[in-house]
Amino acid sequence: MAAKKIFASAEVAGELLGKDSVTLVNNRTGEQHHFPIVDGTEGPSLIDISNLYSQTGMFTYDPGFTSTGSCRSDITFIDGEKGILLYRGYPIEQLVDGADYLDVCYLLLHGELPSKLEGEQFAAVITNHTMLHEQLVSFYRGFKRSAHPMAIMVGVVGALSAFYHSDTDVHDPYQRMVAAHRLIAKMPTIGSYAYKYSKGQPFMYPKNDLTFSENLLRLMFAVPSEEYTINPIVAKAIDRILILHADHEQNASTSTVRLAGSSGANPFACIASGIASLWGPAHGGANEAVLNMLHEIGSVENIPKFVARAKDKDDKFRLMGFGHRVYKNYDPRATIMRQSCHEVLDELGVSDPLLPIALELEKIALKDSYFIEKKLYPNVDFYSGIILRATGFPVPMFTVLFAIARTVGWVAHWKEMYSGDETQRIGRPRQLYTGARRRDFQQLEIRKNRSPNWLRLWAGKK
Ligand code: SDX
Repeated sequence: MAAKKIFASAEVAGELLGKDSVTLVNNRTGEQHHFPIVDGTEGPSLIDISNLYSQTGMFTYDPGFTSTGSCRSDITFIDGEKGILLYRGYPIEQLVDGADYLDVCYLLLHGELPSKLEGEQFAAVITNHTMLHEQLVSFYRGFKRSAHPMAIMVGVVGALSAFYHSDTDVHDPYQRMVAAHRLIAKMPTIGSYAYKYSKGQPFMYPKNDLTFSENLLRLMFAVPSEEYTINPIVAKAIDRILILHADHEQNASTSTVRLAGSSGANPFACIASGIASLWGPAHGGANEAVLNMLHEIGSVENIPKFVARAKDKDDKFRLMGFGHRVYKNYDPRATIMRQSCHEVLDELGVSDPLLPIALELEKIALKDSYFIEKKLYPNVDFYSGIILRATGFPVPMFTVLFAIARTVGWVAHWKEMYSGDETQRIGRPRQLYTGARRRDFQQLEIRKNRSPNWLRLWAGKK
C-alpha cells in the first residue's frame, strides 16, 4: 500500500502530483492547493485531504459523512448505483448459495474462503467458545423481564470486557484472534439468553454437534424437558439471513466500532458500542420497525394513506425498510430476502397476512414518483422481519439476530485496523463551531430574574 506522501508545499505537490491530483483554489486568497487522488481496486477514487488543514488552515464539512471515506479496507465493497455487494470480492448472491455462515466468517476475517481443513478447524474453535462464564449468567437477573433484548445485549457484551480484560492486549495478534473468536461464538448464547430471560424459561447450553445456525435455533427455542428437533428449512433460512447481514463496509455501527477501537479500547467494549449504534431504527432497528409498520398499516387498502404520510415533509413517518445511504438501486440483500421469503413461507406452509401488505407496499412505492426520484428502494430490513416471524423469532429479537450476524463484520474491521500498514491513529473528527464567541462570566446578580426556559429549549424552541 502506497505510503502517504507529505508535500513540502502546494507548488511541489502540484509538480510532483501531476494529473493524479485535484487542485483546490481558495477564492478568498487566490491560493492553489493540490491533493493526491487515491484509487482503490473498485469504486470511486478518493481525494487524500489528510493535510488539508496544514495546507489551508481549513477543515472539510460533511455531516453524516455522505462524501467522506474514513479508512482503507479490503473487506467489503458496495456499488450503490448498481446494487452490488461483494465480501472479499465474492458476490453476496453466490455466497448465500455456496457457503454457510461460518465459511463467510472465515472469509471476512482472513480474506479467503476456507479449505476443508481450515473450515473444520475454524468451526471447532468457534464451537468451543460458545459457552458463557457462569457468573456472566447472573448479569441477566439485574434486568427487568420486560427489558428490550438489545438493551441486554449492550449490557452483557460490554460486561464481557470485565471477564477478559486481563488477556486482551490489543497489540498482541494472538489475543486479538481469541477475542474475535469469543465474540463471534458467544453472541448466539448471549442473545438467546436475553430471549429466554424475557420468557422466564431456563437458559439452554450450546451443543457442540450442531452448526452455528442450528445451535442458535436450539438455544432460542429448546427447553430442557424435551428433545428439540431442528427444522432444516428454518436452519438454512437463518444461516442465509446471517450471511446477508454479516458485513456492510463503513455503516454506522461498524464505523462506531472502528472509532471506539481506534483508542485501543477493550474489544468487547468496542463491540458493545456497535450493538448500541445498530439498535437505532434508522439502522439495524429497522427490521423490528418494519414489522411494527406493517402491523400499523394493517391492510392493503390502508397503504396509500401511509405512502402519502411518508411523502409528507411535515409528517415524521417514514416507510421503514426503504431507502439507503449507499444503495440508490435495489439492495441486493433485499432481492435475496424477498425470494427467500416466498420459499420459506411455502416450505413451512405458513401464510403471513403481512406478506401481501409488504408486496403491495413495495409495488406501490416503486411506482411512486417520490420514491423513484429519491431512489428509495427496499433495503435488507424490508423482508427480513417476515421470514424471521415465520421461523418463530419474536419481533424484539430481530435486531438481536442482526447483531449476532454483524459481529463478524465488526470484528473483521476492528482486526483490520491493527493489521494495515498505516499506523492506526485515534479517530478524532473536527467541527464547524457556531456557538458563542468568548465572553466573560455572568454573575448570578445579573441573570437571577430571567424566567426559566430550559425545558422549552429541549423542544428545540428558542
Ligand atoms: C441498514 O449503512 C448501511 O450499510 C446500513 C445497513 C447495513 O447493512 O449496515 O444497510 C443496514 O441500516 C439499512 C437501513 C435501514 N433503515 C431504514 O429502513 C429506515 C428508513 N430509511 C431511512 O430512514 C433512510 O433511508 C436511511 C437512514 C436508511 C438513509 O438515510 P440518508 O442516507 O441520510 O437519507 P436521508 O434521510 O437524507 O433521505 C434522503 C431523502 C429525504 O428527503 P429530502 O430531505 O431529500 O426531501 O429521502 C427521504 C428523506 O426524507 N427518505 C425517505 C425514506 N428514506 C429517506 N422518505 C420516506 N421513507 C423513507 N424510508
